[in-house]
Amino acid sequence: MRIFLAPMEGVVDHFLRELLTNIGGIDVCVTEFIRVNDQVLPPKVFQRFCPELFTQCKTPSGVPVRIQLLGGKPEPIALNAVKAVSIGANAIDLNFGCPAKTVNKSDGGACLLRTPHRLYDIIKATRQAVPAHIPVTAKMRLGFEDRSNYLENALAAYEAGATEITVHARSKADGYRPPAYWDSLADIKQAIDIPVIANGEIWTVDDFIRCKEVSQCDDFMLGRGLLSCPDLALQIKAREAGTDYQPMEWSAICHMLQRFFDATTEQYSPRHVGNRLKQWLNYLRRHYPEAQILFEQIKRYRTKAEIDKAMTDSICTSAQLQANGVADYAEPV
Ligand SMILES: Cc1cc2nc3c(=O)[nH]c(=O)nc-3n(C[C@H](O)[C@H](O)[C@H](O)COP(=O)(O)O)c2cc1C
Repeated sequence: MRIFLAPMEGVVDHFLRELLTNIGGIDVCVTEFIRVNDQVLPPKVFQRFCPELFTQCKTPSGVPVRIQLLGGKPEPIALNAVKAVSIGANAIDLNFGCPAKTVNKSDGGACLLRTPHRLYDIIKATRQAVPAHIPVTAKMRLGFEDRSNYLENALAAYEAGATEITVHARSKADGYRPPAYWDSLADIKQAIDIPVIANGEIWTVDDFIRCKEVSQCDDFMLGRGLLSCPDLALQIKAREAGTDYQPMEWSAICHMLQRFFDATTEQYSPRHVGNRLKQWLNYLRRHYPEAQILFEQIKRYRTKAEIDKAMTDSICTSAQLQANGVADYAEPV
């Protein structure tokens, strides 16, 4: 079983990939989408989205990172894939899932699911352009307006030579609303002879167990679930292996947040200091009550010093609670 960290534009960048893969349990990462129009992009664009290009396309803990391209024209996508490979990419992922209006209006992402032959053409051109040992993978939803043509799209990807496909088990029209339709993934898995990676709405080990049972898939991609519970992949793997595992406590999360905050602060003007941290806390508060408290504390803070202090206090409070024998809320799995 492999666990993938989902690509998330504006959220999962190389800082987050480094921290999350460092925890463990993640086997593959995918970059945020790189939009392709008619031009072949310069190396610095690929390197901005994927600084791991400087380190054999692996995170510091050695987890491979795939480069994701998005666009509607076969030739420019294929040429950019070749370019990415020439500067060190070792796998190319193609985006057929993005629901954003601006992206769909410019003929990219999920809108291509309306025309399976176009998805076929893009994958086929890319497959033919890059060396055979480089995986060309596709990430798609179950459809655009509805979920009626997911088999056609999956077959198109397969026949075009995709190495494997990840399916976010919802249509574009479903947005991010639960549920995810994991049962459709079982149909796809039956219809094609390449790995199908199940994605969508896996927030907990129990969700994973149900998704595995319903989708019949062997590989899984986790997005928001990993952001809200950074060791979810380890929890899942411990469950599968039947070994004991003690979920990460808040103090460990907080130390990681501190590193993230220090690393990302200089990217932003003082007015926006802490924005990335607040964004992550917004996911974490689903799983950790302490994240909610910290989020409320810092949401109006504008200086690094204020935020640093709030984080130190949060670590201390957590340590004190544990020293006083107050059980961590997280249940062992
Ligand atoms: C903020 C955000 C940004 C995303 N950006 C991308 C992206 O760049 N490429 C992509 O293929 N999917 C993108 N997705 C979709 C996720 O990769 C994933 O398919 C989706 O969140 C469902 O998985 P989850 O329920 O585990 O989060 C994004 C999702 C979110 C919420």
